[in-house]
Amino acid sequence: MKLATKLIHAGVEPDPSTGAIMTPIYQTSTYVQTSPGDHKGYEYARTQNPTRTALQNALAAVENGKFGLCFSSGMAATDAVIKLLNPGDEVIAANDMYGGTYRLFTKIFEKYGLKFHFINMNDANNVANFINSNTKLIWTETPTNPMMNITDIAAVALIAKQHNIMFCVDNTFASPYLQTPLDLGADIVLHSATKYLGGHSDVVHGCLIMNDAGLNEKLQFIQNACGAIPGPQDCFLVLRGLKTLHVRMQRHCENGDKIANYLRNNPNVDKVYWCGFKEHPDYAVAKKQMRAFGGMMSFTLKDDSMEAANRVLSSTKLFSLAESLGGVESLIGHPASMTHGSIPREDRINNGLVDSLIRLSVGIEDPYDLIEDLNNAIGNPNKNIDIMEMPGKETVSA
Ligand SMILES: Cc1ncc(COP(=O)(O)O)c(C=O)c1O
Repeated sequence: MKLATKLIHAGVEPDPSTGAIMTPIYQTSTYVQTSPGDHKGYEYARTQNPTRTALQNALAAVENGKFGLCFSSGMAATDAVIKLLNPGDEVIAANDMYGGTYRLFTKIFEKYGLKFHFINMNDANNVANFINSNTKLIWTETPTNPMMNITDIAAVALIAKQHNIMFCVDNTFASPYLQTPLDLGADIVLHSATKYLGGHSDVVHGCLIMNDAGLNEKLQFIQNACGAIPGPQDCFLVLRGLKTLHVRMQRHCENGDKIANYLRNNPNVDKVYWCGFKEHPDYAVAKKQMRAFGGMMSFTLKDDSMEAANRVLSSTKLFSLAESLGGVESLIGHPASMTHGSIPREDRINNGLVDSLIRLSVGIEDPYDLIEDLNNAIGNPNKNIDIMEMPGKETVSA
């Protein structure tokens, strides 16, 4: 099956008791046994739940993996992967990933004797420089949050395999519509399903997908032993969200393209970070491993101050100022004070995350309404600006 068909059908069977086409929300904590140990495969709902099973199978299928495991959030999924490690083990991680991941690694796990190296992963060869006999895990996000850097997944996977190191890719920003890291050699794919997979900003959820049965068994043990599992209603919402992922993503990409091009033509905007620009330093890698370039982007203002950023952030009407991303509605955010507030200022500025950096999660509304909203908020010295490819709407008033 191709992706669009898998998104709608994979893992989901009509309910055996009624034929319900939608997987029911099995709101139960336990399952009756006929005699001790004689049951239908379900004993206790922390361990298994049929709504969760359907979602786990669907997620495995759409990421081209064999096994899927669901968690109560993206962070809970991350937490489970790190619990595979032992004191003294070392992790090589990308240096501009989601701030919460950085916080979990440094504020929770460092004190248990794990060592993290945060490095620039744009150049896969850089990874090799940090490998030693204690290295057990390589971790990246691509595109990264919020600088939209790209890791060459296949190149890093090759290095990881040569050294027998586990490689996990956070695929939240791309979704399986844009890239499938397991096909490129990653061992684990992670999602904050809160974002594109759920797609409607109505659920917090995380998942892991992998091919290796032994790894699945270890992570399933952690899932059950630690208990950070999602409720069945949350699984249902993600299962429903998945069914339209391809249609939503197509529009996110189209709108993203239009808005990135608009931004770079606005003289009040300084830099625009979007991996679909030919000038993006990692464009060739993005083009090789992604089907399109998505709706996530960041930009800075010529006036690089918190005040200027705040003016824009509090002026948009359609772009809502909020944490999160990947929903049908457009969001605007300020990484320095929101998602990445937990990273020390010096560290974030060194990684390009300056005070005026603004992140957009471009939704699937009408793109010209979105451009008009941004144009009003950012201002534009060109009174009437030409917007590329705006049939029937050649100008937007400043
Ligand atoms: C790339 C990425 N990974 C992981 C997470 C954490 O996911 P959650 O908020 O579902 O715990 C986020 C949250 O924003 C994220 O953006």
